[in-house]
Amino acid sequence: MRDNGLTIKTIFFGLALLGVNISTTLAADQSVLQPRVPVNQIEEARTWVNPFPSTPENIEKGKHIFHGKAFCVTCHGRDGKGLGNIPGLVGKLPRNFTDKAWQAVRTDGELFWILKNGSPGTDMASFVPLVLTEDEAWHVLLYVRSFGN
Ligand code: HEC
Repeated sequence: MRDNGLTIKTIFFGLALLGVNISTTLAADQSVLQPRVPVNQIEEARTWVNPFPSTPENIEKGKHIFHGKAFCVTCHGRDGKGLGNIPGLVGKLPRNFTDKAWQAVRTDGELFWILKNGSPGTDMASFVPLVLTEDEAWHVLLYVRSFGN
């Protein structure tokens, strides 16, 4: 009898854990769609257009930066899906660039704003102008976009 009670408790506990996990996963997926650029700057940021066409050569240049001097790969991964188990990472997880819903809601200008300012309150830092020139940032964004295709 005692053992049965324990087993039932264990099952309920397991279900409760599962329930918590499911709800946080859904919330996280939705929250990546929220704009990252502050409301008073988003209108302007959305007018910025990538001056470089998405040619295979330009995407290749962006890939080189992603894996090289900008070390994007250390958080976003070779497959662009975003690593989830980085020691010391606080708050939000690195973005999964293969998420088509996320790709669809963001303009190039908003992503460029992020490379200039970082995503406040997260480990996504600012890269322009300290690590990347503006031209390099636009190239790396062509590569980020290529994960959505
Ligand atoms: C130290 C880890 C780290 C590195 C290195 C890093 N990122 Fe991120 N990145 C993050 C995190 C964490 C987020 C999620 C921020 C958020 O949810 O607001 C993010 C989010 C983003 C986003 C999405 C912002 C949005 O509007 O949703 C883009 C685009 C991005 N990173 C591009 C890059 C590029 C390009 C590089 C290299 C130049 C890079 N990241 C390097 C951790 C990193």
